[in-house]
Amino acid sequence: MNTTPRAADTDAAAPFADAFEPTAAQARSAVLEELIRKDPGRFRMLTGDRPTGRLHLGHYFGTLHNRVRLQDLGVETYVIIADYQVLTDRDVADNLTGHVEDLVLDYLAAGVDPARSTIFTHSAVPALNQLMLPFLSLVSVAELSRNPTVKDEIAHARRSAVSGLMFTYPVHQAADILFCKGNLVPVGQDQLPHLEVTRTIARRFNDRYGNGATVFPEPDALLSRAPSLLGTDGTKMSKSRRNAITLAAGADETARLLKGARTDSERHITYDPRTRPEVSSLLLLAALCQNRTPEEVADEIGSAGAAALKKTVTEAVNEYLAPIRARRIEYAEDRAFLRRTLREGNERARAVADTTLAEVRAAMNSHY
Ligand code: TRP
Repeated sequence: MNTTPRAADTDAAAPFADAFEPTAAQARSAVLEELIRKDPGRFRMLTGDRPTGRLHLGHYFGTLHNRVRLQDLGVETYVIIADYQVLTDRDVADNLTGHVEDLVLDYLAAGVDPARSTIFTHSAVPALNQLMLPFLSLVSVAELSRNPTVKDEIAHARRSAVSGLMFTYPVHQAADILFCKGNLVPVGQDQLPHLEVTRTIARRFNDRYGNGATVFPEPDALLSRAPSLLGTDGTKMSKSRRNAITLAAGADETARLLKGARTDSERHITYDPRTRPEVSSLLLLAALCQNRTPEEVADEIGSAGAAALKKTVTEAVNEYLAPIRARRIEYAEDRAFLRRTLREGNERARAVADTTLAEVRAAMNSHY
């Protein structure tokens, strides 16, 4: 399998920087949280993942948990499995069916409810791709070329040729979001440039073809409040680095992975992300699982050292994940349910995309 890291996986620098300086996007996210609490019905959320492997704790606390929380608050939810996007940096999508099923299982286990939320794949919704052509006409090559996430992915792809899809997938992603008129997109920092492309396309489409009406909303990014977790080797948790604890991993495997986790030589355990990133990430992980602060966990361990810290984290993770893992196993055995979830999600997404495409064609005067 090609394990080329993606931008989201390679951003090892200053993983905790977000925690200190709130950016404009974070400030906006705080405002959005307030609006969602007051009136969840005005939001339609769309977000998703590339099917490249099982989701891990970094995904869970970074986005998955947040999606389920928003769904449960009453926000209409779409989750896209971006199977075409896998082809940006590899020629063939190995074991795609297995990866897609793994994602569905991770979603279901984490609490995405297919009765309320639509889980679907890119490739099953042709009208979504048809939106991409008019959208491509609304952005310049220069704009596509300076997208920092795409640049980063190209730099890390270690490939001699860069495909056209690599430059255009952010426009494809705009279609992912706009086909259902999504206005809320929970994502990580690395996706903000893509959100900007989506907003630009929505605005330009409305200006050019809307005739005074708003055909597409300008969606907002919603950043998760949880800072990113480090993997067991002290770099960003990522499936391609083999330093991740997946949702599907068993309790024993989790214990083994955490036992080998990197710490530092200072015995007294303190929470200081700047000077002690590895120890602090472990504290944060325990804290997220136990719904308390990392400082509290640190105080409790005190001078008992790294072994005690690892024991605490292992227990916290295994206890927290136990019901999620049990559900995952149950769903994995029910193949019919798994297939029905995707089939029905795809049908719902297709119906919505067809309606939007008809509207777009009418706006563009291409109704023949
Ligand atoms: N680019 C996202 C990732 O790599 C996946 C994705 C595809 C996505 N389409 C999306 C995320 C639409 C949010 C909205 O993780």
